[in-house]
Amino acid sequence: MRLLPENERHNWVATIVGIRGRGKSYLTKEIVDQEDRVIVIDNLGEYDHLKVIDGYEESIKAIVEANKQKRFGLALRTFSLEHDLELMDLIFNMEHLTLAVEETSRYVSSAFLPPALEQLVRFGRHRAINLIWLARRAAELHRDLTANSDIIVSFTQHEKRDVEYLRSFMGDIAFRAKDLPPYKCLVYGPDEKMPLPILNRKYNDSAEYNRVNSSNGNRSNLHATPNARYSNDSDSEITSESDVDSTQE
Ligand SMILES: Nc1ncnc2c1ncn2[C@@H]1O[C@H](COP(=O)(O)OP(=O)(O)OP(=O)(O)O)[C@@H](O)[C@H]1O
Ligand SMILES: [Mg+2]
Repeated sequence: MRLLPENERHNWVATIVGIRGRGKSYLTKEIVDQEDRVIVIDNLGEYDHLKVIDGYEESIKAIVEANKQKRFGLALRTFSLEHDLELMDLIFNMEHLTLAVEETSRYVSSAFLPPALEQLVRFGRHRAINLIWLARRAAELHRDLTANSDIIVSFTQHEKRDVEYLRSFMGDIAFRAKDLPPYKCLVYGPDEKMPLPILNRKYNDSAEYNRVNSSNGNRSNLHATPNARYSNDSDSEITSESDVDSTQE
């Protein structure tokens, strides 16, 4: 497939975090259903509506075959970390597709990013590869994944470390991650890059978002340092983390 000129490629990288059962995979299914060329590293066996490929050799064959097609949707299930990494390495040689990786924290840690993921997140853009990294806990991801994400979506996060991680680029709105309504998420990144299903799930207390965005300055800068606390804001509802109710699982 011929690549579009660089300025006409509108691909994106998204990170989706949240504790179990809050809607990460459900949202990802909605996103990938809008795309023509899709591969999911389906290590939990959740994407039955795609073409399910069991095994490593079979997955390689399916990738090579799919690369010739205009449309495909593959759920690859090797159930082996090493094999999944080799598949991601192979997928990096493709163009124009959306790759979703479930349970990304199985492959990375905060201190280690395997080359297969590193090249995808750094250079996938040049091949028009959209990426979705899914994980239960934000703080378990490698910083380069989130730093190179255009879009960060957080469903519920309970742990202080995870909320602080989100807060380092989202600002104080991250405290809301502790008590989000069912299937709602915090969303960070420029709206124009945002797949519609993400906008539909966005927790939209717009007054609260506006307050935080205006205090954080440039919203598209994912590493903007939060420079104002709600406590500086006269009509704020939250003044500190402890003011947000924590709903335990
Ligand atoms: N937006 C939604 N509307 C209605 N039901 C939803 C929605 N999102 C999720 N669900 C329901 O919640 C269940 C759990 O969602 P999902 O499988 O996406 O969770 P998850 O965050 O991927 O969890 P895990 O970390 O365990 O994989 C789904 O089977 C679905 O029934
Ligand atoms: Mg899931």
